[in-house]
Amino acid sequence: MKKGFDKDFLWGGAIAASQADGAWNVGGKGLDTQDCRYLDGSWSHEQVELKHHNDPFSRKEFEAALKDNTDTYYPFRRGIDFYHHYTEDLAMMGEMGMKVFRTSACWARLFPNGDESEPNEEGIAYYRDMLSEAHKNGMKVFLTMLHYDIPVHLVTEYGGWKNRKVIDFYLNYCRTLYIRLGDLVDYWLPFNEFNAGRFSPWDGVCLFPNDPETTDNEIFKCLHHQFIAQAKCVKMGHELIPGAKIGGMIARFCTYPATCRPEDALQALQDDQYSNWFYTDVMARGFYPEYMDRYFERFNITIPWENGDQEILKEGTVDFLSFSYYFSQVSTSDQGWEKTAGNLVMANKNPYLKSSEWGWQMDPIGLRVTLNQMYDRYHLPLFVAENGLGTSDVLEPDGTIHDPYRIDYFRTHVQAMKEAVIDGVDLIGYTWWGIIDVVACGPLTMDKRYGLIYVDLDNSGKGTGKRYRKDSFYWYKKCIASNGEDLN
Ligand code: BG6
Repeated sequence: MKKGFDKDFLWGGAIAASQADGAWNVGGKGLDTQDCRYLDGSWSHEQVELKHHNDPFSRKEFEAALKDNTDTYYPFRRGIDFYHHYTEDLAMMGEMGMKVFRTSACWARLFPNGDESEPNEEGIAYYRDMLSEAHKNGMKVFLTMLHYDIPVHLVTEYGGWKNRKVIDFYLNYCRTLYIRLGDLVDYWLPFNEFNAGRFSPWDGVCLFPNDPETTDNEIFKCLHHQFIAQAKCVKMGHELIPGAKIGGMIARFCTYPATCRPEDALQALQDDQYSNWFYTDVMARGFYPEYMDRYFERFNITIPWENGDQEILKEGTVDFLSFSYYFSQVSTSDQGWEKTAGNLVMANKNPYLKSSEWGWQMDPIGLRVTLNQMYDRYHLPLFVAENGLGTSDVLEPDGTIHDPYRIDYFRTHVQAMKEAVIDGVDLIGYTWWGIIDVVACGPLTMDKRYGLIYVDLDNSGKGTGKRYRKDSFYWYKKCIASNGEDLN
């Protein structure tokens, strides 16, 4: 029986290109779908949350964004300018002792329109320099190949993921990543949070939420194309780089029955199947699970199977599974149950849990439950690709940031992972989400901060951009140095 984390456990931190890089019109980069998401930096917290949960993005906003050449209302165009600061930022991560750095490649930086056959060499040079810098600072690289940002041309010209042709463009991009960056990447992830398309259609599959054309049928068509793309990408990676470690990822929605009523238990089972297991079953087992047939029939969904698709899925199963975990929720047959916010979804509230400032219900035990459930089901190595607490912080006049709330969240979640390892789970790594403050993905603001490194920028992108170490920075450094034993 294990007593704690393996000695080569990968302690790390994660960011994504669209939320960090900025430099949206530098180095030959094309416009991407995340560059188009709109925020007025003067909006109040309530206004931001209302928009984020009710009307996150529309066709009208997209069309306006295509004509706007400024970054004033487009936080992802600015990010935290990691593009020009990566040397300093990666040095700070190295100083914490991080063993792995997770970031994403931006498709539009390598293929500005997405459908070119040859890549933009300036983009390749950027990634080679930046990833080499991560290695110089003692970190392995975990590269997400697509974290929501696809070249806008693929949407305006081809309709995005609804169009099966996009699979080939994606695979050409992936081939380039494998061939040109293969020596610098240790873990590959074809798609961030595969189930996002279902819950956040613009992020996941570039369909407008609340649009009459965004039907369940269209969403599952896009998801099917992504499953095929993912499987082919895994197969190609194994052929190009023997021994490559290529994984799958979902946003994990850990759920408990709200009561011991059998109806609630059934609801919990089905929520788990439809929100979580469907995606990991296809990626890890290589076929659509039987329980989805009934779901597809009930909601009139037709999956656009083509000859050979079933073999493709079988041949492209993953080497490890990863997930984001931020909160848990409850499942109930009671439509009137109180709701609260959660990552990508509105969740049913659990009266036994405390919520973060943004309403997400904090539940370290749910992480242990998740790790056990996933390992029992697949017996594949697991990687916690995202976990963290987004909240506001105060930069003191002396440049310190005291964030005991973040340290508490961190400590309890690391403890939960340790328990899961002792339970027998093969957990290989953990990347704290938003290791450095980045633009939040849902609300698009800077004030929802996850970082252990503070970035002095506000919701309008104003500020010095200077980086500061929070108290949690020193906490994580100690935690890593003791391999998860010293959590005080
Ligand atoms: C995950 C995404 O869903 O949640 C990240 O992969 C995102 O991109 C993270 O930042 C936290 O969500 P938010 O909306 O608080 O930034």
